[in-house]
Amino acid sequence: MTTDHDAPFFRGRRLRRTASIRDLVRETDVRPQDLIQPYFVVDTEDPSFDRPIGSMPGQSQLCVNKLEERVAAAVDMGLKSLILFGIPKTKDEFASEGFAENGIVQQAVRALKKRFPSLVVMTDVCLCEYTSHGHCGIIKDEYVQNDPTLSILSKIALSHAAAGADVVAPSDMMDGRVAAIRAGLDRAGYRELPIMSYAVKYASAFYGPFRDAAESAPQFGDRNSYQMDPSNWREGLREAAADVQEGADMLMVKPGLPYLDMIRLLRDRFDLPLAAYQVSGEYSMIKAAAGNGWIDEQRVVMESLTSIKRAGADLILTYFAEDFLKWNK
Ligand code: PBG
Repeated sequence: MTTDHDAPFFRGRRLRRTASIRDLVRETDVRPQDLIQPYFVVDTEDPSFDRPIGSMPGQSQLCVNKLEERVAAAVDMGLKSLILFGIPKTKDEFASEGFAENGIVQQAVRALKKRFPSLVVMTDVCLCEYTSHGHCGIIKDEYVQNDPTLSILSKIALSHAAAGADVVAPSDMMDGRVAAIRAGLDRAGYRELPIMSYAVKYASAFYGPFRDAAESAPQFGDRNSYQMDPSNWREGLREAAADVQEGADMLMVKPGLPYLDMIRLLRDRFDLPLAAYQVSGEYSMIKAAAGNGWIDEQRVVMESLTSIKRAGADLILTYFAEDFLKWNK
């Protein structure tokens, strides 16, 4: 008898006694190939444009040249995939630069795929970076119009495909966009190009820093009539089911850490690969606290990424992807 009383109890500490035993029973790992680094690329004549984003320490708006340099360093460290957001020279009501053959994302995709053929280059498909009003769709009577937006989304996706994108990722939250994009791609012969849909995307205040980074804040109103109410989970299941039915190849939950329940629900109910987006506000909160010396940045990042994977995500879009590769080199 090793105890001074007889009641049996569970000795969970046996498997936590040494680092080697803990390694042996670890259930979740974050692998370099699980991470997708987002980049912001700017249409500019300045070949050395690299403007740090104030609200996202460590992230920059980059010209194509500087993007290539930064991606080269990341690829050297083991980066396997990235997602591009574009900041165009001009914006209009119809997001014309979003589907221009020589638009900024199209230029960046061509440059990156030429230099890094095996890198998985994903593109965010949305209108908000390209519209003068900053909304993710066409506006009429101060309301974002669903159906007229679909053909534009489809054109944007097609132009990314033509430039050589490996995956297109619609983030607009219009109804029917996966079907519209799929049909457009198939008609043009891109039958094998996958769609990763931002299926369960909440109207989140955690996107705050991103809207500075992508210069895409709505000029009036908010996104509550198309992005989801943070209170709802059953609605998220309906959104995911619709996207699966329309032909999505991968699903996404966004933001990440505040919505771990949705990641778990989708993992349990759908068999498609599942991504989670650790968004700008999640990044900036960690950076700010770490910058103040209040938390251990590396440990908090590893813990948050591990938690997102433990909840059921296969892939994580995260601004910490480069840092993760650096730390785990
Ligand atoms: C575009 C889009 C947004 C994000 C990704 N795609 C912003 C938004 O919906 O307002 C947010 C990403 C982040 O916060 O890191 N619709």
